[in-house]
Amino acid sequence: MLIAPSLLSCDFSQFGNEIKRMDDAGADYMHLDVMDGHFVPNITFGAPVIKFVRRFTDKVFDVHLMISEPLRYIDDFCNAGADIITFHVECDSGIDETIEKIKSRGVKAGLVIKPRTPAEAVFPYLDRLDMVLVMTVEPGFGGQSFMADMLPKVESLRGEIRKRNLEVLIEADGGIGEQNIKQCADAGVDVAVAGTAVFKTDDPRAAIAKLKSLCV
Ligand code: DX5
Ligand code: ZN
Repeated sequence: MLIAPSLLSCDFSQFGNEIKRMDDAGADYMHLDVMDGHFVPNITFGAPVIKFVRRFTDKVFDVHLMISEPLRYIDDFCNAGADIITFHVECDSGIDETIEKIKSRGVKAGLVIKPRTPAEAVFPYLDRLDMVLVMTVEPGFGGQSFMADMLPKVESLRGEIRKRNLEVLIEADGGIGEQNIKQCADAGVDVAVAGTAVFKTDDPRAAIAKLKSLCV
Protein backbone atom coordinates (compact mmCIF):
# COMPACT_ATOMS: atom_id res chain seq x y z
CA MET A 1 0.00 0.00 0.00
CA LEU A 2 1.31 3.43 -0.93
CA ILE A 3 0.59 6.19 1.58
CA ALA A 4 -0.26 9.70 0.40
CA PRO A 5 -0.46 12.16 3.31
CA SER A 6 -3.08 14.85 2.65
CA LEU A 7 -1.42 18.21 3.24
CA LEU A 8 -4.88 19.62 3.98
CA SER A 9 -4.14 18.76 7.62
CA CYS A 10 -0.70 20.43 7.72
CA ASP A 11 0.43 23.71 9.29
CA PHE A 12 0.12 25.98 6.25
CA SER A 13 2.43 28.60 7.76
CA GLN A 14 5.12 25.92 7.23
CA PHE A 15 3.79 24.40 4.01
CA GLY A 16 7.18 23.69 2.42
CA ASN A 17 8.66 22.31 5.63
CA GLU A 18 5.58 20.15 6.20
CA ILE A 19 6.14 18.56 2.79
CA LYS A 20 9.77 17.98 3.69
CA ARG A 21 8.66 16.46 6.99
CA MET A 22 6.32 14.04 5.18
CA ASP A 23 9.09 13.14 2.73
CA ASP A 24 11.41 12.32 5.66
CA ALA A 25 8.62 10.33 7.33
CA GLY A 26 8.41 7.95 4.37
CA ALA A 27 5.39 9.29 2.46
CA ASP A 28 5.06 7.86 -1.05
CA TYR A 29 2.99 10.65 -2.63
CA MET A 30 2.15 14.19 -1.52
CA HIS A 31 -1.65 14.52 -1.79
CA LEU A 32 -2.57 18.13 -2.52
CA ASP A 33 -6.26 19.05 -2.15
CA VAL A 34 -7.29 21.98 -4.34
CA MET A 35 -10.75 23.39 -3.53
CA ASP A 36 -12.49 26.32 -5.20
CA GLY A 37 -15.35 27.10 -2.79
CA HIS A 38 -17.79 26.24 -5.59
CA PHE A 39 -17.46 22.53 -6.35
CA VAL A 40 -17.02 21.98 -2.60
CA PRO A 41 -17.85 24.33 0.30
CA ASN A 42 -14.22 25.06 1.20
CA ILE A 43 -11.28 26.95 -0.32
CA THR A 44 -7.66 25.86 -0.06
CA PHE A 45 -4.85 26.80 -2.45
CA GLY A 46 -4.07 26.81 -6.15
CA ALA A 47 -1.27 26.32 -8.65
CA PRO A 48 0.94 29.26 -7.52
CA VAL A 49 1.24 27.77 -4.04
CA ILE A 50 1.97 24.30 -5.41
CA LYS A 51 4.70 25.80 -7.58
CA PHE A 52 6.40 27.35 -4.53
CA VAL A 53 6.39 24.12 -2.49
CA ARG A 54 7.46 21.90 -5.39
CA ARG A 55 11.15 22.34 -4.56
CA PHE A 56 10.81 20.81 -1.09
CA THR A 57 10.67 17.21 -2.34
CA ASP A 58 11.15 15.00 -5.39
CA LYS A 59 8.23 12.77 -4.39
CA VAL A 60 5.14 12.44 -6.54
CA PHE A 61 2.76 15.42 -6.38
CA ASP A 62 -0.74 13.90 -6.44
CA VAL A 63 -3.03 16.87 -7.10
CA HIS A 64 -6.73 16.31 -6.29
CA LEU A 65 -8.82 18.99 -7.99
CA MET A 66 -12.14 19.67 -6.27
CA ILE A 67 -13.01 22.48 -8.67
CA SER A 68 -15.93 23.02 -11.03
CA GLU A 69 -13.94 23.70 -14.21
CA PRO A 70 -10.68 21.73 -14.09
CA LEU A 71 -10.01 22.06 -17.83
CA ARG A 72 -9.39 25.81 -17.48
CA TYR A 73 -6.53 25.24 -15.03
CA ILE A 74 -4.78 22.07 -16.25
CA ASP A 75 -1.87 23.99 -17.80
CA ASP A 76 -1.34 25.91 -14.56
CA PHE A 77 -1.17 22.74 -12.45
CA CYS A 78 1.12 21.03 -14.96
CA ASN A 79 3.41 24.06 -14.96
CA ALA A 80 3.38 24.04 -11.15
CA GLY A 81 4.85 20.53 -11.14
CA ALA A 82 1.95 18.11 -10.72
CA ASP A 83 2.83 14.47 -11.47
CA ILE A 84 -0.73 13.14 -11.22
CA ILE A 85 -3.87 15.24 -11.63
CA THR A 86 -7.19 13.79 -10.53
CA PHE A 87 -10.47 15.62 -11.20
CA HIS A 88 -14.09 14.80 -10.48
CA VAL A 89 -16.31 13.00 -12.98
CA GLU A 90 -19.10 15.24 -11.55
CA CYS A 91 -17.37 18.48 -12.68
CA ASP A 92 -18.55 20.89 -15.41
CA SER A 93 -15.63 20.41 -17.84
CA GLY A 94 -15.69 17.88 -20.70
CA ILE A 95 -14.25 14.67 -19.29
CA ASP A 96 -12.61 13.41 -22.50
CA GLU A 97 -11.12 16.80 -23.27
CA THR A 98 -9.74 17.21 -19.75
CA ILE A 99 -8.12 13.75 -19.76
CA GLU A 100 -6.55 14.49 -23.16
CA LYS A 101 -5.28 17.87 -21.95
CA ILE A 102 -3.58 16.35 -18.90
CA LYS A 103 -2.01 13.54 -20.92
CA SER A 104 -0.82 15.91 -23.65
CA ARG A 105 1.31 17.56 -20.97
CA GLY A 106 2.92 14.23 -20.01
CA VAL A 107 1.14 14.17 -16.64
CA LYS A 108 -0.82 11.20 -15.27
CA ALA A 109 -4.60 11.56 -15.29
CA GLY A 110 -7.18 10.28 -12.84
CA LEU A 111 -10.92 10.57 -12.26
CA VAL A 112 -12.53 10.95 -8.84
CA ILE A 113 -15.97 9.73 -7.77
CA LYS A 114 -17.95 11.22 -4.88
CA PRO A 115 -19.79 8.89 -2.48
CA ARG A 116 -23.10 9.10 -4.37
CA THR A 117 -21.51 8.43 -7.78
CA PRO A 118 -21.38 4.78 -8.89
CA ALA A 119 -18.12 3.12 -9.99
CA GLU A 120 -19.60 2.61 -13.47
CA ALA A 121 -19.42 6.39 -14.06
CA VAL A 122 -15.71 6.06 -14.84
CA PHE A 123 -15.87 2.83 -16.86
CA PRO A 124 -16.09 4.62 -20.25
CA TYR A 125 -12.78 6.40 -19.52
CA LEU A 126 -10.91 3.59 -17.75
CA ASP A 127 -8.67 2.65 -20.70
CA ARG A 128 -7.21 6.17 -20.79
CA LEU A 129 -6.75 6.68 -17.04
CA ASP A 130 -3.74 6.18 -14.78
CA MET A 131 -5.77 6.36 -11.57
CA VAL A 132 -9.29 6.27 -10.16
CA LEU A 133 -9.85 7.96 -6.80
CA VAL A 134 -12.78 6.71 -4.74
CA MET A 135 -13.91 9.25 -2.12
CA THR A 136 -14.64 7.57 1.22
CA VAL A 137 -16.06 10.83 2.65
CA GLU A 138 -17.93 13.75 1.06
CA PRO A 139 -15.16 15.93 -0.38
CA GLY A 140 -14.44 19.27 1.27
CA PHE A 141 -12.95 18.69 4.69
CA GLY A 142 -10.43 16.52 6.52
CA GLY A 143 -11.25 14.67 9.72
CA GLN A 144 -14.53 13.03 8.65
CA SER A 145 -15.59 9.42 9.25
CA PHE A 146 -14.68 6.69 6.78
CA MET A 147 -17.60 5.34 4.73
CA ALA A 148 -17.06 1.57 4.58
CA ASP A 149 -19.97 1.25 2.16
CA MET A 150 -17.70 2.72 -0.55
CA LEU A 151 -15.56 -0.44 -0.58
CA PRO A 152 -17.84 -2.41 -2.93
CA LYS A 153 -17.14 0.33 -5.51
CA VAL A 154 -13.42 -0.30 -5.07
CA GLU A 155 -14.01 -4.03 -5.58
CA SER A 156 -16.06 -3.42 -8.68
CA LEU A 157 -13.35 -1.13 -10.13
CA ARG A 158 -10.66 -3.64 -9.26
CA GLY A 159 -12.62 -6.34 -11.11
CA GLU A 160 -13.13 -4.19 -14.19
CA ILE A 161 -9.45 -3.10 -14.28
CA ARG A 162 -8.37 -6.75 -14.02
CA LYS A 163 -10.88 -7.88 -16.64
CA ARG A 164 -9.55 -5.34 -19.14
CA ASN A 165 -5.94 -6.04 -18.17
CA LEU A 166 -5.24 -2.38 -17.36
CA GLU A 167 -2.70 -0.81 -15.01
CA VAL A 168 -4.94 1.78 -13.39
CA LEU A 169 -4.16 2.57 -9.75
CA ILE A 170 -7.02 2.79 -7.28
CA GLU A 171 -6.74 5.47 -4.62
CA ALA A 172 -9.09 5.96 -1.66
CA ASP A 173 -9.46 9.26 0.19
CA GLY A 174 -11.15 10.25 3.42
CA GLY A 175 -11.18 8.98 6.99
CA ILE A 176 -8.52 6.34 6.40
CA GLY A 177 -6.56 5.18 9.44
CA GLU A 178 -5.40 2.14 11.37
CA GLN A 179 -9.01 0.99 11.90
CA ASN A 180 -9.82 0.57 8.21
CA ILE A 181 -6.71 0.54 6.01
CA LYS A 182 -6.63 -3.27 5.90
CA GLN A 183 -10.21 -3.32 4.59
CA CYS A 184 -9.12 -0.86 1.90
CA ALA A 185 -6.18 -3.05 0.92
CA ASP A 186 -8.36 -6.16 0.78
CA ALA A 187 -10.88 -4.38 -1.46
CA GLY A 188 -8.12 -3.47 -3.92
CA VAL A 189 -6.88 0.00 -2.96
CA ASP A 190 -3.28 0.73 -4.11
CA VAL A 191 -2.86 4.24 -2.66
CA ALA A 192 -4.36 5.39 0.64
CA VAL A 193 -4.71 9.11 1.35
CA ALA A 194 -4.36 9.92 5.03
CA GLY A 195 -4.67 13.40 6.53
CA THR A 196 -5.69 13.18 10.16
CA ALA A 197 -4.09 9.75 10.68
CA VAL A 198 -0.65 11.10 9.74
CA PHE A 199 -0.75 14.73 10.90
CA LYS A 200 -2.58 14.40 14.21
CA THR A 201 0.19 12.31 15.73
CA ASP A 202 3.60 13.25 17.18
CA ASP A 203 5.40 10.71 15.04
CA PRO A 204 4.35 10.69 11.37
CA ARG A 205 7.12 8.25 10.48
CA ALA A 206 5.71 5.68 12.92
CA ALA A 207 2.16 6.41 11.73
CA ILE A 208 3.04 5.80 8.06
CA ALA A 209 5.02 2.64 8.90
CA LYS A 210 2.10 1.33 10.97
CA LEU A 211 -0.42 1.99 8.19
CA LYS A 212 1.76 0.12 5.71
CA SER A 213 2.40 -2.79 8.08
CA LEU A 214 -1.33 -3.31 8.64
CA CYS A 215 -1.78 -4.07 4.93
CA VAL A 216 0.67 -6.94 4.56
C1 DX5 B 1 -11.28 15.70 1.57
C2 DX5 B 1 -9.89 15.57 0.99
C3 DX5 B 1 -9.05 14.55 1.71
C4 DX5 B 1 -8.90 14.81 3.19
C5 DX5 B 1 -8.41 13.58 3.87
O1 DX5 B 1 -12.07 16.42 0.69
O2 DX5 B 1 -9.95 15.17 -0.36
O3 DX5 B 1 -7.81 14.40 1.06
O4 DX5 B 1 -8.06 15.87 3.47
O5 DX5 B 1 -8.26 13.86 5.24
P1 DX5 B 1 -8.64 12.77 6.36
O6 DX5 B 1 -7.65 11.64 6.21
O7 DX5 B 1 -8.47 13.52 7.63
O8 DX5 B 1 -10.04 12.33 6.10
ZN1 ZN C 1 -8.10 14.52 -1.44
